[in-house]
Formats: sequence, C-alpha cells, structure tokens
Amino acid sequence: MCGIVAYLGDKEAQPLLLEGLRRLEYRGYDSSGIAILNGKGLETVKKVGRIQNLENALALHPLHGSLGISHTRWATHGKATDVNAHPHIDASGKLALVHNGVIENYSLLKRKLEEKGLKFRTETDTEVLAFLIGFHFDSLDAAMDNRLEVAVMEALREVTGTYGLVAVHEDQPDIMVGARRGSPLVLGIGPHEHFLASDVSAIAAHTQTVAHLRDFDVVTIDRQGYRLKSLSQNQAGLEISQIDYQAAEATLGDFPHYMLKEIFEQTMSVQNAVRGRLNLEESTAQLGGLNLTPQDLREIDRILITGCGTAMHAGMVGEYIIESLAHVPVEIDYASEFRLRNSPLDRRTLVLAVSQSGETEDTLGALREARRKGHRVLGICNNVASTLARETDGGVYMYAGPEISVAATKSFTSQVVIFVLLGMLLGRMRFLSASQGREMIEAIEALPDQITTVLRQSDHIRQVAEKYRHSKSMLFFGRQMQYGIALEGALKMKEITYIHAEGHPTAELKHGVIALIDENTPSVFLCPRDGAYDKNINNLQQVRARKGPVIAVATEGDTEIQNHADDIFFIPDAPEYTAPILSVITLQLFAYHMAVILGRDVDKPRNLAKSVTVP
Ligand code: M6R
Repeated sequence: MCGIVAYLGDKEAQPLLLEGLRRLEYRGYDSSGIAILNGKGLETVKKVGRIQNLENALALHPLHGSLGISHTRWATHGKATDVNAHPHIDASGKLALVHNGVIENYSLLKRKLEEKGLKFRTETDTEVLAFLIGFHFDSLDAAMDNRLEVAVMEALREVTGTYGLVAVHEDQPDIMVGARRGSPLVLGIGPHEHFLASDVSAIAAHTQTVAHLRDFDVVTIDRQGYRLKSLSQNQAGLEISQIDYQAAEATLGDFPHYMLKEIFEQTMSVQNAVRGRLNLEESTAQLGGLNLTPQDLREIDRILITGCGTAMHAGMVGEYIIESLAHVPVEIDYASEFRLRNSPLDRRTLVLAVSQSGETEDTLGALREARRKGHRVLGICNNVASTLARETDGGVYMYAGPEISVAATKSFTSQVVIFVLLGMLLGRMRFLSASQGREMIEAIEALPDQITTVLRQSDHIRQVAEKYRHSKSMLFFGRQMQYGIALEGALKMKEITYIHAEGHPTAELKHGVIALIDENTPSVFLCPRDGAYDKNINNLQQVRARKGPVIAVATEGDTEIQNHADDIFFIPDAPEYTAPILSVITLQLFAYHMAVILGRDVDKPRNLAKSVTVP
C-alpha cells in the first residue's frame, strides 16, 4: 500500500523516479510526489490524483539533480490532497520524507512537538515523523558525518507502528537514509548508483542486484556505497540476491488493460504453478518447498487456511478440495479475524497462509500469531521476495508472474490449482488410489486447453455484459467448490464496476436473499454438471418464478440448462475440483467487460490498492 522509489547515482533522478512510480501505481494512486536535491537545495512537487498529474506538473517545471525520493499514496491518515501527498517536509523545510505504513502514536508525538512550538500543515502521521526526524537532526552537531542517519534512528526509537521510509536533508546533500519495520523496502545496487523501493518492480529495469531490508534495518547510502545499521540487537548483514524478474512481464503488450492481459495469461500461469510438481510414476504431486517429511505430512490431522479477499476465496475452494481428496478436516478464517482469535490449534494442525503479494498486513499478522503459538505455517504465495515467503516455515510459490491489476485474477487460479496439488499429495498418502491419482493428473494436465476454450467466449460474455449494463445489483450463487467462486465473482463485479454484488451459498437463497429478486436484479448461478446440479436447478427456478433474470455457468453439452437460464457461460466438462478454475474465468471476464462498458478505471478501481499493508 503506497509505493516508494528513491535514487542516488550519477544520472538525472526525475525520469528514473517517475518510471518507478508508474510501475508502483498499482500500490496506491490517490496522489504522488517527488523531492530532489539539486546541489542548491530541496525542491518538491506533489499532486493529487494519478501520477500523470505529477508528470504534467514536472513537464512544465522539471527538477534536476541525481538524488531524489518519490511516493505514490493510498490515503490512511488525511484526505487525498496535494498537501497531504508525500514527500513530507519538516519544520525547517530542509528535510523530506516518504513513508509507507502507519505511525500509531503520531497524535502523542504531534502534541509533544507542538508543545515545543512546531506548527503542522497537514493531518498526516508522516508529517509528524518528518518533523520528529528534523527535530533530532537540528539538535545534533552540524559537523557529524552521520547526522541524518542518527536523527532517523533516534526518531524511530520513539515511534510505534510500521514504516518503510526514505529521508533526505539538504544539509547532507549526498546521503539518503532508508528504514524498514513492517513495510517492505528493497535496496537496489547498480554500478555507481543505488535505489530504495517498496517493490522490486520499480527498479528491476535498472538493476537485478537487490537486498531486502529486514525489520529494524536502517540503511545509509552515499556516493561511495551503503552501510547498514539496526534498531534491534540483530546486527547480521544484508543478504544480496539476483532477482529473476523480467521488467517486460509487467508491461501491457497489446492488451488494453492489465486485468485482461492477466486473465488471458491463465493458460500459462496455471501451467507454471504445476510445472515440475506432478509425479507421474507415483501418480501424485511433489511439493518440495513444504519442507515436510512424508511422516510429517501423514501426521497432519487438521488444516487451517487463512488469507484476505481473493486469496481467502481461493482458500474456501481449497477447503472443499482438501477435505474431499484427503479427508483432512479444514477450517478457513479471514486473516483479520484469525489474528485476533484465540483459536485452539494443536501441534498437528497445519496453518496455510495464502497471499499473492505476501505483504498483506492481516495475513502476516495471522501467520505471526500462529507461529507465536508454535504452529507450523506454510505459505502459498506469488512474490518470492515477500515478507510472507521469509517468515513461513515453507510453502508453495505460484510462479504466476507479476500481477499488476488491482483485481486479482491469475493469482486466484494458481492458488486453486496449488490446493488441488496439495489435496492430491495428502490424499495419496491416505485414501486415494494410484488410478485416482492418475485421473487427477489427467484433469490437471487438461486445464490449459480448457482455459483456452473458456477464453474464446470473451466476446460472447461481453455481449451478455452489454445486456445487463443497467443493473444496479447482482447476485451470485454457488455451492460446495463453487461457493468460493460465487463470492469471488461478486467481489470481481463490485470492485471494478461498483455495481452492488453479493455471493451466497445457493441454498441460502430461500432463507432471505430471495427478497432481493426482481426483474432488474440478475442472478448468476454456478451450476456445472456435478452432484449439486438438480438442487441448483431447483433454486434457479425459484428465481425465475419471481421474474429474476438468470445467467448460468454450466457444463458444455448441458442441453437442459437452455430451458432454465436467460444467458449461459459454458465451461468444458471437468471434475468438481478443477471446474472452479474454469468457472471463475467466465466471471472474471464478465466483470471485466462490464467495467469497460461502464467506463470504469479497470486496473485501478476507486479506493483500492493492490497490497493492503495496513491493518
Ligand atoms: O496480496 P494478497 O493476495 O494477500 O491480497 C489479498 C487481497 O487484498 C486481494 O486478494 C484483494 O481482495 C483483491 N484486490 C481482489 O481482487
């Protein structure tokens, strides 16, 4: 949530920072800003709205200099305005700060600084931190070489909360200081230049050599290099690694939006999640990253899956998959709830934390809570350099490539296929026969072609979306493995079209939801040919009897469904554990086309951000 890019090197900073901000815009886009030290002093430009507004302002008055910091914001404290945008400047006007995270004790710190006569210009917590660092800087000896570093460290010792930050000061014009606690910050190391950024995507085009700061690290960069300090006792050095990240992967190509590109990438991303993980000889899956022996896996007698948003919905599908394939009881809980709950887990319970970004604050809170109580926590994650990847005992990477659109699509299907692999692995150690394992492998291997078949319906789905464009509200129904898909279909619809949408277990219809049915409220029924088909059709008829329009997601070759639905999205025939991967794609396309028809900002819907790094 919010993006930071900072540069110190021998090139002009402004174009590098703007390019980095563009790549980070998915993290937040309420406002953005830049501050550059040009040898004479500090110059800052901040603009509310998209980064284009900042670019327009800088096109008129470019900033020159080879040291700069920049930020794109998702507002937490204070409205989205020019003045609340980062960088924030201290009372002296010489220090600039960009900050991600939340300073929890900012009111107290603000009061203390006000008592010393300082006057604030904004309502933000970041300005308080800028003032606090500036206050320490001004109290230190002007001859100190490490004055800014010490000022940052002293200020951070007074702070409770989270931060990824970078500070610069015009009295130390060749230095920038970065620090991290709870909000990611990566150091990029290039020849004669260094970067600090909240995400490698911002700097990957310029350097592949990076080091991820750990909590409490403070890094000081000057023209000679960098040095590391820590606010904790832990003094270990930074681990430098080479990133395998193609900047090109994060570009649009011929697609009008990242969301559509990522929907179409699912043929490939599902294969990437499976590659090297099918053991044909043993008719099972192999997931080396779990770091568990076969005996450990056999001893698991309960699984708790946790995550937020789309990742949570994937977990809900995973619950049904694992229970049906492996007969291991599975519980699922929102990470935000689980972290506050005193859940009675025991040593044989495995906790699975699911997150595309690996940086979602509530998911990290849940995994830390589980680990605090001594439970084994595994991650299902896309971002290999994330906090979640570092803090879990093992896990499974999705290898889905960068997901830029705020609306998650390909990460969902990768998560679900990983649950199928996990279900197969645990199942084959318990009840599943070799021939059942082989059938499963065949079903998984059929997915890429089946996904291509679903994607071919994109135009048809667009026509259906056109028909329902005036809807104010939509309902989504599914049961068992399709229940999570109903929730995910509704989430996709509401988050990018702003149409009110609700997902429900199909049979709950008659317990209250049916009161919402009228001729203007379409219902999407997930009713592939599975064990619940007849029951689904019964419920669907109850909607039709009340003149509610019905869109069905059904299995190819189902001729009966034509008699019951106004519109149909077909998916290829598939077992119940892979069918959700196919049905969700129809709903991703439905939401996408509806959003385009309604003229919405598809990749950056209002009020949202890609990674929610605040609680
Ligand atoms: O990065 P994560 O998977 O942890 O993100 C969790 C949710 O914030 C995310 O899935 C969100 O719900 C998506 N924007 C939905 O499309």
